[in-house]
Amino acid sequence: VATSGATLPDIAESLVERLRTHLRNGTTDQCPEVMHLPRKNFTDASIAEAERRKIFGRVPFIAAHSSELPEPNSFVTRPLPRNEAVLVRGDDGRVRTFVNMCRHRGALLEPRDEGTCRVFSCIYHGWSYNLDGSLRNITYSSSFGDVDTSSLGLVELPTEEHAGFVWVVDDPQGSIDVTAWLGPDFDEILSSYELDGFVCYRLGVFDEPANWKVLHDAFLDGYHIKFAHPLSAGKHIHTNVYAVDDYGSHARFASPRKSLDRWLDDEPGDEPLSWHMTLSHFVGPNCTLLRHRDHFQLLSFFPSRTDPLTSRMEMRLLVPSLGASGLHEDAWRAKWDKNWDILMQVLRDEDFPVLRNLQRATTSESGGPLILGRNEVLNQAFHREIARLLTDA
Ligand code: FES
Ligand SMILES: [Fe+2]
Repeated sequence: VATSGATLPDIAESLVERLRTHLRNGTTDQCPEVMHLPRKNFTDASIAEAERRKIFGRVPFIAAHSSELPEPNSFVTRPLPRNEAVLVRGDDGRVRTFVNMCRHRGALLEPRDEGTCRVFSCIYHGWSYNLDGSLRNITYSSSFGDVDTSSLGLVELPTEEHAGFVWVVDDPQGSIDVTAWLGPDFDEILSSYELDGFVCYRLGVFDEPANWKVLHDAFLDGYHIKFAHPLSAGKHIHTNVYAVDDYGSHARFASPRKSLDRWLDDEPGDEPLSWHMTLSHFVGPNCTLLRHRDHFQLLSFFPSRTDPLTSRMEMRLLVPSLGASGLHEDAWRAKWDKNWDILMQVLRDEDFPVLRNLQRATTSESGGPLILGRNEVLNQAFHREIARLLTDA
């Protein structure tokens, strides 16, 4: 794995320089204006429906890391914003996504979270499907009656594997072009990480009683660090200081670690200064990818299909494979299990309680609109992008 080494690509050095300037001057990147957000963006069923259709039904989002489908016949099932889905790698190596519903009477075709299989067989009346989605067999077909089996294959969702991820557009009528969606500059950044060489060590799924944007906002937010995380992240990372590179539908942003403070005036020694910052990426419309020294963390947020007040967050730890790590398996597992436990503790004890209660509060009829300050650059970019996608015809 070329990127399992310790240094960040040079391209991020410009962000460190901007952070040093901000720390010297007591400043941060800012938007031109304060932004107001109606509370109903987080509670309204018709807005939620429009988001599912116009955002998740139109633009590519990450549904899995490639390593979750390691070989031909591997499958995973995922509840996507518009469809129950099963993703499967065919004998040809290609990943396809199907609506996980039997074309006979609608049974959940593959009830397991993951596994391998040669055919999908429905548990209800035994219809079976090939991994390319085609209907293979109708049981007792001579008594079933005439149906056009060629039109009864599984419904397929546009799918593309790119930069180590499986991307899906959650509408069978949609089309997919991941490179075009990312744009050349942001695609170059993502691709430079060679994430297809990493493995998804662990996937955590959190069904939370909060709108997907409430949850995602918290991970684009460098303003809450020392208040909500005084004894964890707040001890190591500066609050309210960031440098943002905006790529339209995507962005890259950095915050200084407190360890950068001693390098404000002196030129660095052997260590790259980029070690003294956190580097995150907003991968529109619903993911945040955090770049750590030797691994990545992917956070994805999915609206519920039925309830604007609930959503699903997925957290993936993407790490160098055992073979590339140079570690014994026990040490490799111990390292990433410990990393996971620390992340979980912060989520469970610090972020989720605040966000659940925030959602509860925002259902207040008389609470008034919400405000995003000029300093909340990423949150403004996120909500501006959501609004843009919703207003597109
Ligand atoms: S619902 Fe699947 S075979 Fe009847
Ligand atoms: Fe947080």
